[in-house]
Amino acid sequence: MFYWIETFGCQMNVHDSDRMADVLRASGWQKAESLENAELVLFNTCSIREKSEQKLRSEVGKLAPLKERRPELIFAVAGCVAQQEGEKLLARFPVLDLVLGPDNIPELPRLLEDQRSGAPPVARTVFDIDEPRFLTATADEKRVSAFVTTMKGCDERCSFCIVPTTRGPERYRSSDEIVAEVARWVEGGAREIVLLGQTVDSFRDPALPPAASDDPDESQFPSLLRKIADAVPRFDDANPFAPGLLRLRYTSPHPRHATPSLVAAHREVEILAEHIHLPVQSGSNRMLRRMIRRYTRETFIERAAALLASRPGTTMSSDIIVGFPGETDEDFEETLSLVREVGFVQVFGFKFSPRPGTPALKLGNDVPESKKSERLARLFELVDAQLAAHLATLVGTRVTVLVEGASKLGDAFTGRTQRNEIVHLARDLFPEGLELAGQVVEADIVSANKRSLAGAPTERAMIHLSTLPTHAMRVRTVEKRVLQVVA
Ligand code: 5AD
Repeated sequence: MFYWIETFGCQMNVHDSDRMADVLRASGWQKAESLENAELVLFNTCSIREKSEQKLRSEVGKLAPLKERRPELIFAVAGCVAQQEGEKLLARFPVLDLVLGPDNIPELPRLLEDQRSGAPPVARTVFDIDEPRFLTATADEKRVSAFVTTMKGCDERCSFCIVPTTRGPERYRSSDEIVAEVARWVEGGAREIVLLGQTVDSFRDPALPPAASDDPDESQFPSLLRKIADAVPRFDDANPFAPGLLRLRYTSPHPRHATPSLVAAHREVEILAEHIHLPVQSGSNRMLRRMIRRYTRETFIERAAALLASRPGTTMSSDIIVGFPGETDEDFEETLSLVREVGFVQVFGFKFSPRPGTPALKLGNDVPESKKSERLARLFELVDAQLAAHLATLVGTRVTVLVEGASKLGDAFTGRTQRNEIVHLARDLFPEGLELAGQVVEADIVSANKRSLAGAPTERAMIHLSTLPTHAMRVRTVEKRVLQVVA
């Protein structure tokens, strides 16, 4: 029995797809070589913007002829569109056999079994509110960089966002379980762990009483970071092939919970990446209010500045929506000025897209498409310039690169620094046949491109690499860096 999974959307979906693959493999399924050879085709969908939903429609259209040719093919839709639409999807797309919500992944094998024995199409989209389940990767899996879920759902009520509907209320995983999963990945060779949650920094340990604090936005997330750092072996420069965690990242935090204790964690917890993704959405207080973001431009700037100052050189990226209802040219200028003031080196920018059931629907969608495109282009132009200027300052510095794999052209190894800059290391700088994916390489930056750096391994790195054991980790690298959300 062969399956094929297509993933759309955010890191949480990527993670969910991996877990679906796990439960399928555990019940006798194998990955197909292509969609055409599969007996199960599963689309893990995204509904954050209308475009993502349209994508589903067009992909489903493409599958209809396949299903006509092979009626036994099981066609399933999972993820956020599945959760949002449920049974309606079955009515809309007669080729569909199964609709599966994000919390119903463990039931997948049983539901498929039913389908194979001729059951009618079914939608299963029930949140696990009372006993939340967090699936862990199967023990044999190895990766350079691994996602670990710490919480799911969202209690924020940002007026534009469909996530509370598609992912339900916040539920947290116990810190012991999180630490155990991180430790297992690291033991298996992972060098980077990315903690995942819709509002990852609102974490509360379900095993503990709420933190005693005067600040209602204080969470136990900083303690979780410290607990992981204390419990898990670190990457050791002197012993570069032994298991050890090089860097800990998280996504996506809400600025509301980026309190002084998070800043302190960034100052003190060494394995935290020197890069923070902090979605701002807009630089205009009027827009932030209408978005129900629950912070002001001033608070955001103050918090971002404190985080950036926590360790010298720290970089920051963000998410921004342009063309939110009522956004004037002046509001947008405020956004650009915030982008300049904070100095983001990367921004995931999106045109506002009205989503069903969200409060912003009532605000209309009055910014013309052409205006949204124009604003997005100006935003990207500014951020590109900031990134290029930042990268240029790094020429001549020494960095630590975690190599993820080969560059697109295959003529270089590509990895990231602690600050998340992309570094290419030309293959011809290394002995032929050397496989560097998963290695930590010290490098000197020799030149800067618009979006990346070129580096050369230091002498010390070459000495280390010359002792690379023949059984060097054969870890699966991140196939492609998943953007925050793929539009
Ligand atoms: N329209 C446009 N962008 C949106 N996002 C979330 N909802 C919408 C929407 N309705 C963006 C936000 C969020 C990112 C994941 O997607 O910037 O941070």
